[in-house]
Amino acid sequence: MKTIAIIATGGTIAGVGKDGKTVVYHAGEIDVNDILESIPQINEVAHLKTFQLYNVDSNEMDEEKWMGLSNMINSLVLEEDIDGIVVTHGTDCIEETSYYLTLTLNTNKPVVLTGAMRPATATSADGPFNLYQAVSLASNDSAYGKGVMVLFSNTIYSGRDVQKINNFKVDAFGQKTFGCLGYMQDEVPYFFSDTFKKHTIHSIFAGNYNSLPKVGVALFYAGASADILYHLAQSNEGIVIVGAGSGNYNEKWKEAIEDLSKKGTIFVRSSRVQEGIVFDDEVFDPHHYCISSNTLSGQKARVLLMLALKKTKDRDQIRQIFAQY
Ligand code: SIN
Repeated sequence: MKTIAIIATGGTIAGVGKDGKTVVYHAGEIDVNDILESIPQINEVAHLKTFQLYNVDSNEMDEEKWMGLSNMINSLVLEEDIDGIVVTHGTDCIEETSYYLTLTLNTNKPVVLTGAMRPATATSADGPFNLYQAVSLASNDSAYGKGVMVLFSNTIYSGRDVQKINNFKVDAFGQKTFGCLGYMQDEVPYFFSDTFKKHTIHSIFAGNYNSLPKVGVALFYAGASADILYHLAQSNEGIVIVGAGSGNYNEKWKEAIEDLSKKGTIFVRSSRVQEGIVFDDEVFDPHHYCISSNTLSGQKARVLLMLALKKTKDRDQIRQIFAQY
């Protein structure tokens, strides 16, 4: 049997609320070993080593906690007897953590994040089965070298592309128009696609960090003033624009972006539209000050821009990075 390290960080999977109900609960309350007690069959899948790293609602995850988690995984995977890693996590911000780990983990061993939409005390809580499947996936030879994955509702998603698409239903995740990496039937994974963007051992960011440059995010809406951009530029090296349509904005924003770019702020254009792709744009950005986010959402583009700014302040080099990751 393989040995899997489970690192618990909190979330609804560890949430406690009114007996049987799915609402009015607090995420990140119970210990991972208490969740495991409800799934004794998991011990037939793998030997488990558990670590309660944090116990928070994932809205409390931040750069420091990403770095702590990634650095911990980077050292655990060096242990020969550890074959894979499972991270339990809240669903709200799992997509940012999964992308940070995708970029910074220096391993080929399977790393699987999972969580739950219903607290541990709900009728038909989904967490125990998700955890069972996540451990099964991390123990499976076919998961080796696939990068960071997120397991939810029998479905395997890539850590880069996964996004929360429903804030209420148990089947809460999707991967844009790219479908998913595969499905699971109980403990057996069936992969049928792959991620082509650089990750883990192929990532120039693989390694440990103890600080990250500051990057802000600005959402464009009809009638938005450019004040927010000037405000963010005071305390951030980079700003991710979550524009309308193809990453677009009004004339006031266009002028502010040009002005602030000349003074050194690095801008990335992403879109508030869930699907599609943001390309360079001759009309909204005729001087190519902005870097296109490609298929990354604003919150994921922020993760990449922070790591990119750690390596270089050169806009064209950062543009190359966004094309590859
Ligand atoms: C959280 O993200 O920690 C709370 C919501 C959830 O896990 O579903």
